Amino acid sequence: MSTNSQVPNSSRVVVVTGAAQGIGRAYVKEFCAQGYRVAALDINAKAVNQVAAEASGHGGHCLPFEVDVGDEASVASACHKLLEQLGSADILVNNAAIFSTLKMRPFEEIPLDEWTKVLHVNITGTLLMVKALLPSMRQRKWGRIINVSSAAVTMGRPHYLHYTTSKAAVIGMTRSMARELGVSGITVNALLPGAIDTEISRETVTPAQKQAQIDMRSVPREATPQDLTGVVSFLASEASGFVTGQSLIVDGGLTFL
Ligand SMILES: NC(=O)c1ccc[n+]([C@@H]2O[C@H](COP(=O)([O-])OP(=O)(O)OC[C@H]3O[C@@H](n4cnc5c(N)ncnc54)[C@H](O)[C@@H]3O)[C@@H](O)[C@H]2O)c1
Repeated sequence: MSTNSQVPNSSRVVVVTGAAQGIGRAYVKEFCAQGYRVAALDINAKAVNQVAAEASGHGGHCLPFEVDVGDEASVASACHKLLEQLGSADILVNNAAIFSTLKMRPFEEIPLDEWTKVLHVNITGTLLMVKALLPSMRQRKWGRIINVSSAAVTMGRPHYLHYTTSKAAVIGMTRSMARELGVSGITVNALLPGAIDTEISRETVTPAQKQAQIDMRSVPREATPQDLTGVVSFLASEASGFVTGQSLIVDGGLTFL
């Protein structure tokens, strides 16, 4: 059954940023499996080409585009190309972020240039993608914007202050965008995932911290990207049309809003 009762998924174009690996790659595969046409965007051109080839190889319709979401000209160029090749942009999953490459350290030791870069890519990158694709959504009087934040914000997790600050900003941005865009038939929601294992190793959760989080979850088990794909599918669908400006925590009931 289509997640969209009135319009077939094949007539909607989903744009996923940060699609070359990890959770973004899982979104691409899920949207392709559901029959959407997908634009997979990432700064890592080689890896995103591979993801798109894999997704298309399994019968999906996926095109790769290289983009630096923090660079306005790069965003304009990638979005121009994807609109030319796919015709519209109906659903945007703002998933790209500087995340798995981060080193954990007390905030007073974070170099200012790293602080600035994380805020720029994670906050301004989100804004630039919305700005570039908004005309297409407004034209069709329909759109779904899903901004990826993090449950690290609700937990107040230490040692990557630039990251938690950037993801808190994404929640504020989401609420104000929702106010401005609802009249145009466009919803904007924030997704706050808890710690999720992907194929990429990272320093942001130590094995001890991971186990402690699992123990504190209401659903006490490990999380996978598949724990997010159903929630994102709902936020992308017709069914979520009266849900906007919300922060949806998907962390197995570790924290509550
Ligand atoms: N994995 C988790 O536990 C977790 C938890 C909460 C939130 N999140 C969020 O979910 C999203 C995906 O997480 P992940 O674990 O797959 O992260 P990841 O670091 O593995 O992947 C991030 C992707 O974004 C791309 N990217 C980085 N900078 C970019 C730029 N300037 N332009 C375009 N692409 C760029 C990277 O190349 C990479 O493919 C991120 O927004 C992250 O903050 C992840």
